[in-house]
Amino acid sequence: MTQEATALEVLIRNMPKAELHVHVEGTLEPELMFALAQRNSVELPYRTVEEARAAYSFGSLQSFLDLYYRGAAVLQEERDFYELTQAYLERANGQRVRHVELFFDPQTHTTRGVPFAVVVGGIRRALDEAEERWGMTSRLIMCFLRDLGPEAAAATWEEALPHIADLAGVGLDSAEVGYPPGPFEQVFLRAREQGLFAVAHAGEEGPPDFVRQALDQLGARRIDHGVRALEDSELVERLVREGVPLTVCPLSNVKLGVVSSLREHPLRRMLELGLAVTVNSDDPAYFGGYLTENFLAARRALDLTREQILTLARNSYAAAVIDRSRRRRLEEELQAAASEL
Ligand code: ADE
Ligand code: ZN
Repeated sequence: MTQEATALEVLIRNMPKAELHVHVEGTLEPELMFALAQRNSVELPYRTVEEARAAYSFGSLQSFLDLYYRGAAVLQEERDFYELTQAYLERANGQRVRHVELFFDPQTHTTRGVPFAVVVGGIRRALDEAEERWGMTSRLIMCFLRDLGPEAAAATWEEALPHIADLAGVGLDSAEVGYPPGPFEQVFLRAREQGLFAVAHAGEEGPPDFVRQALDQLGARRIDHGVRALEDSELVERLVREGVPLTVCPLSNVKLGVVSSLREHPLRRMLELGLAVTVNSDDPAYFGGYLTENFLAARRALDLTREQILTLARNSYAAAVIDRSRRRRLEEELQAAASEL
């Protein structure tokens, strides 16, 4: 590696990061999955950790989701959710993640009979502890599973109401093709009326029009993935003009076949077009890397410049749901990390 490339990698490791697109269920490493399976007497489709990892080869979003939902079935008690979240936060802290906006999918658990309060309670306890221990700030975002439909989402919203103080936002995830955002308009409206911010997965496997629907019908203030927006130049112009942040997940896109290889990934092009892109890890336990690994892999494959790396970090602070003083603090920490090199 050249001296310059080495310096950029040090910068990536040292810079304060904000992670805006990570599913807590997607941080379940096989080791913890096995430990919880044993503790809760749940049967897994693998005999060993190695066998689990070997099975993590996906050709599409659906092939991933099948294993992801199966794995999440080991989560049953409050302490399981706490330990899962705690393990992710510990790693994130080691990668200088200073702010995280964490997704969780209540329906994955409530449909198995795990109470909403158990899920939120465990996650919340770990997030609060991370703030106390490391000053890591966080927001919790509840996602509706789009393939279960708008009525199930509305019922989940009712279940969430007593816990609204623990939530900052609502999102939309799971299988995208065949499940447009539009039908979720009412439940998103209700959430926004209660002061929650809205985000939505759109334009990962689905068409550019799903990105438009997420903005216009759901009031989404950030789009998760959004890479397929590039197929529609008018939409790109709008996203640039309105400064809509896109939470892009490079390793995820390769693992799920959204792009054929990292070298083909549009991240650099998106930056050059002036889109407000950020780098994120999505489901790091399944896709082979946490936030730092996503940055490192993208830099190598796309030859990102120092300025582009700094822009990605700043974009993530700008897109985060934080106040001005917290944003200024992150920018100052970035300045300090950048000036050391
Ligand atoms: N749930 C977890 N990861 C997801 C992804 N990449 N797309 C849609 N739903 C998800
Ligand atoms: Zn996602």
